Amino acid sequence: MEARSLIERKRDGGQIAPAEWRTLMQQYAAGDVPDYQMAALAMAIFFNGLTRDEIGALTDAMLHSGATLDLDHLRAGRVDKHSTGGVGDKVSLVLAPLVAACGVAVPMMSGRGLGHTGGTLDKLESIPGFRTDLTLAQATQQLESFGCALIGQTREIAPADRKLYALRDATSTVESIPLIAASIMSKKLAEGLTGLVLDVKRGSGAFLPELDRGLELARTMIELGADHGCPVVALLTAMDRPLGRACGNAIEVEESIMALRGEGPPDLMKVTYALGAEMLVLGAVATDRDDARRRMEVAISSGRAAARFQQIIEAQGGDPAVVDDPSLLPQANEVELFLADRAGVVAQVEPRAIGRGITALGGGRTKVDDIVDASVGFVITAQPGDVVRAGEPLATIFARDSAGVAAGRAALQTAVRIAEDAEPPLPLISHRVTEAGVQQWDDA
Ligand code: URA
Repeated sequence: MEARSLIERKRDGGQIAPAEWRTLMQQYAAGDVPDYQMAALAMAIFFNGLTRDEIGALTDAMLHSGATLDLDHLRAGRVDKHSTGGVGDKVSLVLAPLVAACGVAVPMMSGRGLGHTGGTLDKLESIPGFRTDLTLAQATQQLESFGCALIGQTREIAPADRKLYALRDATSTVESIPLIAASIMSKKLAEGLTGLVLDVKRGSGAFLPELDRGLELARTMIELGADHGCPVVALLTAMDRPLGRACGNAIEVEESIMALRGEGPPDLMKVTYALGAEMLVLGAVATDRDDARRRMEVAISSGRAAARFQQIIEAQGGDPAVVDDPSLLPQANEVELFLADRAGVVAQVEPRAIGRGITALGGGRTKVDDIVDASVGFVITAQPGDVVRAGEPLATIFARDSAGVAAGRAALQTAVRIAEDAEPPLPLISHRVTEAGVQQWDDA
């Protein structure tokens, strides 16, 4: 097949047929279509979009470029959660053991930090010894034993997406709804799920900040799931400020452990319970979302959720003692308070500036092969709307050295804005989207 003719067709607003997508993606995964041609096609898609049928065909083509998990023999429902990415978003770390402890199998496939957003794999790898590079056979065995595996996209799963995603990152073609939807769903459908819950972020720290674009992405992924018999529910949640207080790899693991022990910050718990309730209902262990919420509360108060996290950590080579003693996680050399320089109202805690600040401290990547310092980051106690006095602590900086403290302080000076008054922040959860349509969260 001539890739050049497909690029020309897409450039000129034409369509690519399902068989052509399949051959193209197989040849790309095999190295027979060069990156420069795929980059040109990605840019043509970025500008001209894809029809609904083409999005489906591209998703199928990427899904079938590799292996899939066959979990039909498990009695439990298999439900994963995917977030479109944010700052301080450690929900997966709490949700996976919590939902598994309630009886739903969670084959959770996560990614690394991207741009200003953090990644679940980097957070997990801050646990001494923790390995996320399980083979599909190992992940299957773990799911059979105790219902949860926390893995990265292995070489076996959707290899065409793996290559294309890295290429899109390098060619500024990430922010395309057809490409994002096909990329996420090709991986998720490869997990052999019986249900999927999406956390679609909106607000200044989201990849797609505008509500209508978030809703379009949610609807597209819901339709792709329906094409494959996989029910998908999406919640639209706020990313105009970080989620929870901790922002940085090891300190987010610590906050997640506290959440599993019943001491999580209210915003993190609200989003976790809302997403978890959808997972328990899709996984058929709860009759409705209220029932699901009660089951999750019991799993936390009884210690079962924290114990399940310990089990997962141990199975994946990590030190399970971190759950009882989070001080075993990597610790920063320098810890310094960040104080309010004036009295007023916290008008904004801007997530992109916080995310970039973590990278400046050494806790994120600017190149794929950068080594991440797990110990650095921020714990931000100030929240939009808080009234503060001059000199009051707003955050704590965790850094490698004094240069890191200075970089952290500069990031917080940009991110945390104190004013005379403040606009209300976005509602933490604003919409629930299913195949049936879009509901305001208050009515859902
Ligand atoms: N996450 C993915 O897996 N793919 C995208 O395209 C964007 C976010």
